Formats: sequence, structure tokens, C-alpha cells
Amino acid sequence: MAAAALLVAGCGYGGVATASEADTQNGQAIFSSTCASCHTLQAAAASGTIGPNLDNAFATDRTQGYANADIENVVLDQIRLGSGPIATYTKAEHGVKGLTPQTQMPAHLVTGQNAVDVAAYVASVAGINGFTKSVNPATLGTDGGKIFKAECAGCHTLAAAGAHGTTGPNLDQLGPKLTLAIIVRQVTSGGSIMPPFSGKLSTAQIQAVAQYVKSVAGKK
Ligand code: HEC
Ligand code: HEC
Repeated sequence: MAAAALLVAGCGYGGVATASEADTQNGQAIFSSTCASCHTLQAAAASGTIGPNLDNAFATDRTQGYANADIENVVLDQIRLGSGPIATYTKAEHGVKGLTPQTQMPAHLVTGQNAVDVAAYVASVAGINGFTKSVNPATLGTDGGKIFKAECAGCHTLAAAGAHGTTGPNLDQLGPKLTLAIIVRQVTSGGSIMPPFSGKLSTAQIQAVAQYVKSVAGKK
């Protein structure tokens, strides 16, 4: 077999990225099902805000002349390593300045060829039109279901919202144990890994999403 021309860029864990081997169509489908709930990416019509806006993460790299293969390796590293070791804090530590939990991306959400495909897809589109706007949480209003899909679905499973996140507990399983007060407190103040939403959502929005979770968790 003739040796393929390999575009090897960067180092570390990225490995070898070859544009010809990646199926970006498969990559886009995986992005929509696995990444879109946490990330904004204009080309995929993805508007998640739990993680960084991926257009904005790579827009500057584009203007600095980085090749798609370089970006692909950065994305592959992120998929393989996730956020790295998870820092957790006790409730008591939360008030201390600087000790808010960093929002986490789990490692190995996708593996093997699927990881290569989704990385190649992201590399082919992220930041291609420069910086893009992320959804302002204020525009979500007080529709609990809409707020849940935008702010919570990336991390939690909840059948009624079509959410399959696995970073946090399955809310359908917790269902009967969740009182409105528990949900409101959790969303307002966060947990050891879950970020607090008190600065991101209004009191009325927190109430609305809590009411929504209470009304649907474990009922489907
Ligand atoms: C549960 C939410 C969540 C999911 C799902 C998720 N991410 Fe992330 N992602 C994050 C968070 C939070 C960060 C920022 C923290 C960090 O860098 O670890 C991040 C960071 C990144 C970065 C680095 C961006 C930068 O600024 O350097 C890339 C690239 C990335 N994610 C790609 C993906 C891809 C591709 C998928 C799907 C396979 C995915 N993410 C799924 C939450 C998520
Ligand atoms: C970055 C991931 C992440 C996001 C985003 C997130 N959660 Fe969580 N959630 C978690 C984790 C992890 C836990 C387990 C407790 C902990 O360590 O924080 C949790 C716990 C919970 C609990 C259980 C509390 C209990 O006492 O058992 C509820 C309810 C909850 N989350 C609701 C929500 C709602 C509603 C949203 C959106 C407004 C949301 N979460 C957004 C990760 C997340």
C-alpha cells in the first residue's frame, strides 16, 4: 500500500490527523447528539452554553493561520482528556473566593474513529466565520423546558426533555426524591461539580426550571 501523505501537526496526545480518513458527515451527526447540548457552534446550529463557544475558541487560531489539522488535534486532545482531574469543593468552601467549581467536560464522550470524525468536523467549521454570539440566558424567558434544554441537558438525563447528559445524576432516577426546594437550592448554589446558576439565571428562571424538573422527572 502506498504511504498516505499524513498531516501530522502538534504533539502530545493528538496523534495523527488525516483529512482524507475522516467522515465529517458522521462527525456532524455525533456533534449534534453528543456535543451540541454544551457548546455553541454556528455551522451545526448548536447553541449550548455550558462549555465554551467553539467558534470563538478557534476564531483567533484561524486568523493566525493554523491549519485544520492543528485544530483537529486540539479537539481530539480535549475529547480524550476532557477537563482532566476533577476538582471538587465542599459546600462550605463555595463561598471562598476562587473556589467555585470549574465546569467539567467528561473525557471519552466519543472514542476511536467517531472521535476522529467529530474532531475533523469541528476543525472544518469552528470559527470559520469568525466570532459568533452565544445565546443570552435572558432570552430564554421563564419557559422551564427551554431553560433546561439550554442550561442543564448537557449534564443530566431527563427523558421529557430528550436529555442524555451523564456528568450529573439521572434526574428521572432521582425523580421522587426531588422536592422543589432541593432543586432550587441546587441550581442556585451548585454542588461540588455542578456550577451555581445564581449569576446566570434570574430568580424567576431558576424557579421555572426547578418547577419543570419537579413536574416531569421520573414521569416518562
Ligand atoms: C457536559 C458538557 C460538555 C459536553 C457534552 C462536551 N463538552 Fe466540550 N467542553 C465543556 C467544558 C465545560 C469545556 C471547558 C473546560 C475544559 O476545557 O475542560 C469544554 C471544552 C471543550 C474544548 C476546548 C475549547 C477551548 O476553549 O479550548 C473543545 C474543543 C471541546 N470542548 C469540544 C467538545 C466536543 C467535540 C464534544 C463532543 C464530543 C464536547 N466538547 C462535549 C463541556 C462539554
Ligand atoms: C456541568 C454539568 C452540570 C450542569 C450544567 C448542571 N448540572 Fe445539575 N448536577 C451536576 C452534578 C455533577 C450533580 C451532582 C452534585 C454535584 O456534585 O454537583 C448535579 C446535581 C443536580 C441535582 C440533584 C441535587 C440533589 O440534591 O440530589 C439536581 C436537581 C440538578 N443537578 C439539577 C440541575 C438543573 C435544573 C440544571 C440546569 C439549570 C443543572 N442541574 C445543570 C452537573 C450539572
